[in-house]
Amino acid sequence: MPQIDVQKQYLWFPVRQGGERKPLFIYDGDTRIFEFAVAPGNDAPDFYAALNINDWMGKTLALSGEFPDAFFENIRQEDQKPAGTSRRPRLHFAPEIGWMNDPNGLVYQDGEYHMCFQYNPFDTEWGNMTWGYAKSADLIHWQELDPVLYPDETGTMFSGCAYIDRENAAGFGKDARLYYYTAAGNNGEWSKGKPSTQHLAVTTDGGRTVEKKGMVLDTVERDNRDPKVYYHAPSKGYFMVLFLVDNDFAVFRSENLKDWSMTQRITLPGAAECPDLFELPVDGDQSNTKWIYWSADSCYYVGSFDGYTFTPEQEKRYAYCNKIAYAAQTVYGAPDRLITIPWLRTGQRELNGKKTTYHGLMGVPAVLSLTKDETGYRLRQNPVEELDRIITSSVERKNLLSGCEETVAAVEDAPFEIKASFPAGLTGTASIGFAEGLTATVDFAKGLFQLGKEEVPFGANKELDIRLIVDDDVIELFADNGALYTVCEHTANTLAGEIRVALEGDVKLDSITVCVFGNN
Ligand code: FRU
Repeated sequence: MPQIDVQKQYLWFPVRQGGERKPLFIYDGDTRIFEFAVAPGNDAPDFYAALNINDWMGKTLALSGEFPDAFFENIRQEDQKPAGTSRRPRLHFAPEIGWMNDPNGLVYQDGEYHMCFQYNPFDTEWGNMTWGYAKSADLIHWQELDPVLYPDETGTMFSGCAYIDRENAAGFGKDARLYYYTAAGNNGEWSKGKPSTQHLAVTTDGGRTVEKKGMVLDTVERDNRDPKVYYHAPSKGYFMVLFLVDNDFAVFRSENLKDWSMTQRITLPGAAECPDLFELPVDGDQSNTKWIYWSADSCYYVGSFDGYTFTPEQEKRYAYCNKIAYAAQTVYGAPDRLITIPWLRTGQRELNGKKTTYHGLMGVPAVLSLTKDETGYRLRQNPVEELDRIITSSVERKNLLSGCEETVAAVEDAPFEIKASFPAGLTGTASIGFAEGLTATVDFAKGLFQLGKEEVPFGANKELDIRLIVDDDVIELFADNGALYTVCEHTANTLAGEIRVALEGDVKLDSITVCVFGNN
């Protein structure tokens, strides 16, 4: 077996993107400490995957797996992590190297936002589910740190949440941060034949070190997964929602955050994966709240919850207009607002004829609210105000009249936002062009918003506000005060260009504002 005398913090593995994977095992003496499925890049890797082995400094580790000698010979030790693709989206988080899906363990603690995520450090496709980790003071600039949970003999590390134990109910100390996650068995050799179980891990040093504490909930359905935990104040108890199978979910209850018993099994037609159950005031009225049972593709049910049982009071609705955003989770502990962050299922980009080293983005964090009208309750989401704080320049034009064709601003290569407000009762079309031929069109006669390949119907005949957040790779659209949300991918090489407006028929614009984001 090839041996490594650990002298530096990181091991670099040469990998081939999307190649055939085989299991790689790493041992400390007789103890297996890692298993990853790896496509070897040998002496011509697409990139290097890094693994922090600081905990074994001064020791000798052994590697095994059916790999060519050239793979083992090209494993290196380095003091830092390798660099990824030179350019990534600037407003939307992506890890520098590897595949990312769902946000996990979202939490605000001691003035910082912490975001873990489903992560494959060894490829730009799904696998080896590990909890990657990043933190941020403002939800916009994220610092990527080393992963905090790696696959083990119980399985790979599937999605889960964070909870801050302010009462020390679990006994790990006041304000211990608890991470609940799914150990997804039967992913790889190590956990072969095992089902999915729910586990607890704890950090008491603000997230730097995370210790696994073992299983807290045994299997209910073989692939049950994605625990999300909150406190229910009126009934003074903790609850967990979990995805079971098909459209079935469960609510569990605990008094100590460690022992959980099921209080409800519920079928929510249309819903699957990554549940969340949270409370929001109706139209901002704190004395009138509703609970929302949320699932991965934004299918949500509004109803009531007594700490044990959720009762839907309205048919399902969807918060997203297309399938790119997925698996959003709310942030635990952010004062005075409920923040949501989705994973954006973007395609693998190429830059200069080469695949990028990242795959998958997070959406810009948004604040959730709930409104009620004659059609029922509706979730709305609007980008966090922190985004406004990084505006470096803006141009506003008011009262653009029908027939106008104008350049309203010219931007350098930086992310920007276009905000526009239209009066009610229009029948013509408005188009806004930007970057390399990208266009957003609002067709008021059809009640259709068109952004690249994405089409979003909207209720015509009323005032309409739109916000387009334009970054590298993606554009997010928030419209009608956040009731409509969609994401469009693009491959423009630069965001520089003129912002052009053309108004046809009777269309007028009350105002249009272009805000350019900087790095401040
Ligand atoms: C949703 C999901 C979760 C699961 C995770 C695995 O995208 O399938 O249900 O925990 O991804 O990566």
